[in-house]
Amino acid sequence: MKNVNSTCGLLIIIASLLIAGATAETQWFENFCRGNKNTTKLHFYVHDVRTGPNATLYTVANASITTTSPTGFGRINVFDDRVTAAPDIGSEEVARAQGTTTSVDLQVSAASMNLNFYLTSGKFNGSTVTIIGRNQFTLAQRELPVAGGSGAFRYARGYAITSSYSNDATTNYSVLEYTIYITTSTKC
Ligand SMILES: *[C@@H]1O[C@H](CO)[C@@H](O)[C@H](O)[C@H]1NC(C)=O
Ligand SMILES: *[C@@H]1O[C@H](CO)[C@@H](O)[C@H](O)[C@H]1NC(C)=O
Ligand SMILES: *[C@@H]1O[C@H](CO)[C@@H](O)[C@H](O)[C@H]1NC(C)=O
Ligand SMILES: *[C@@H]1O[C@H](CO)[C@@H](O)[C@H](O)[C@H]1NC(C)=O
Ligand SMILES: *[C@@H]1O[C@H](CO)[C@@H](O)[C@H](O)[C@H]1NC(C)=O
Repeated sequence: MKNVNSTCGLLIIIASLLIAGATAETQWFENFCRGNKNTTKLHFYVHDVRTGPNATLYTVANASITTTSPTGFGRINVFDDRVTAAPDIGSEEVARAQGTTTSVDLQVSAASMNLNFYLTSGKFNGSTVTIIGRNQFTLAQRELPVAGGSGAFRYARGYAITSSYSNDATTNYSVLEYTIYITTSTKC
């Protein structure tokens, strides 16, 4: 019995430590080992402000078909969006999302992304993560490939899961949630 109790006690202590660890781990980046590979998880929010004095996303080109296309085919947007650790646009800025989107699907709303996350705080300040891929906006969750990176993320591979956190069609303001898993060639 004594052994069982001490085992239980140990399990409770481990469980408490795990819970405490989970609570403390509210930061927007995390390092862990996965199959002996150094993996970084990033989690943050991208702010698409499309009109007004604080706009960070602009349409730079339309095709002849764009205005009549149901999917806006051919439109090219360029952006330098604020990226924050929490959903509120006024919360801590951790990165900028810089790049272009091109509407590339005649059937459904989807873009080809050239997206560079330029980290501006934390231990990876100055490093970049590059995402290139097809983003189908009609899906609740989209998977995008991490094609590479610079600085701490040199030789990066991985993927991002993104979804719409909020969208206000009247004020032309959307918040996108990103969770990115980045594996570098460094062992840990
Ligand atoms: C633009 O940004 C400034 C500074 O963050 C803020 O005070 C202002 O309310 C914003 N304006 C709009 C229209 O969102
Ligand atoms: C592209 O088309 C949209 C919708 O008609 C229009 O609001 C925008 O000004 C156009 N932009 C350019 C750069 O042609
Ligand atoms: C990030 O790095 C830049 C350039 O080295 C520096 O100016 C800035 O203060 C750093 N930001 C933070 C939050 O550490
Ligand atoms: C690799 O692992 C070390 C130790 O866990 C960590 O300090 C470092 O930031 C990691 N590098 C990347 C790019 O995640
Ligand atoms: C939002 O965008 C639409 C279409 O471009 C435009 O007609 C409208 O004026 C914009 N709203 C605001 C608040 O700027």
